[in-house]
Amino acid sequence: MRNMPIFNVPLTELRERTSIKWRRFEPDVLPMFVAEMDAHIAPPIRERLERALRMGDTGYPELPIYQEAMADYANWQWGWDLDPADATLVTDVVTGMRDALEAVSSPGDAVVINPPIYPPFRGISHDRRLVEVPMVAGRLDLEGLEEAFRTQRPAAYLLCSPHNPDGTIHTRQELETVARLADAYQVAVISDEIHAPLAGARHVPYLDVDGASNAVIVISASKSFNLAALKAGLVIGDSGIRNRLRPMVSDGASYFGVLAHSAALTDGREWLAEASAEITGNKEFFAERLRATLPQLEHTPSEGTYLAWVDCAPLGLANPGQHFHRIGRVRFNFGAEFAPETASFVRVNLATSHDIIEEAVRRMAASIGAVEE
Ligand SMILES: Cc1ncc(COP(=O)(O)O)c(C=O)c1O
Repeated sequence: MRNMPIFNVPLTELRERTSIKWRRFEPDVLPMFVAEMDAHIAPPIRERLERALRMGDTGYPELPIYQEAMADYANWQWGWDLDPADATLVTDVVTGMRDALEAVSSPGDAVVINPPIYPPFRGISHDRRLVEVPMVAGRLDLEGLEEAFRTQRPAAYLLCSPHNPDGTIHTRQELETVARLADAYQVAVISDEIHAPLAGARHVPYLDVDGASNAVIVISASKSFNLAALKAGLVIGDSGIRNRLRPMVSDGASYFGVLAHSAALTDGREWLAEASAEITGNKEFFAERLRATLPQLEHTPSEGTYLAWVDCAPLGLANPGQHFHRIGRVRFNFGAEFAPETASFVRVNLATSHDIIEEAVRRMAASIGAVEE
């Protein structure tokens, strides 16, 4: 068993990193925006990569180990009977979402999204016609979805499950309704489930719900194990859709990505359980610090993901994210990145230490003069 917390990497060490999180903004800014974890890589993943490096095993992937590892994981975690042959290797989740969208729609076709939403959902749909069915009180608006399906006749629906930014975990009942509507109006469902492993048993894979057809899941171990540098993802499901994926769709995944994601899903389960428990604690700690320091803000921890979605409207700031950056020297994602209507929100990355969370809230409060500098 582990005796050290996972999210305990000191700030001085983190500042030596050169990824987006640590190099995009000024060095005095505390970065809590992009979804990178402030953790060391899980030991089984590091050992697998180190073994390959020692052997000079740095070529191309051949064996379907990632597909097999995902099927075994899905069966173990969700009781979902997935055939590895139903999974196609892709570059990563965003690219896989775009690949799947191209397979089911043409430029100009309508595509449904649920804002506030992870910004690349708009980017990958840039040449499609976006139909927006906003989340209502943090849940899918199933009536709005039916209305959009009926009146806009979309080719595709981009589901985010769990939802980013608010961390909503969709229930089986909600997903069954989605499946019924998608079938009735012949809409292809493309479900981004990159945050699913961290959500654990609470997550329901879209393809495991009754009536789900004409659908693919795009998934990877990347968010749950912090593997964005090690590219590999899977498009799982309908063979009709997967057969229409562009030629060479699998060539973007790297061999190290395949090795890392497979090791994560097979041998990283204990690490993930520990990481997930720490994140639950971090969310509670963050909520408690907000209550103590900025009681004007009402915040309930999110269900899934390691993100907090905080409405800062009570502070009366025109652009709270920008204010916290410029004045407080702490950087979150801005609410307007996810929907113009959520400009009063910030998205806070809580895959970090209590020290950093405490300092972030202190900086927020100091920036509005609520605590001493
Ligand atoms: C919902 C969602 N999809 C996709 C990604 C990125 O996935 P990838 O790096 O595999 O493209 C993220 C990253 O935060 C995400 O939150």
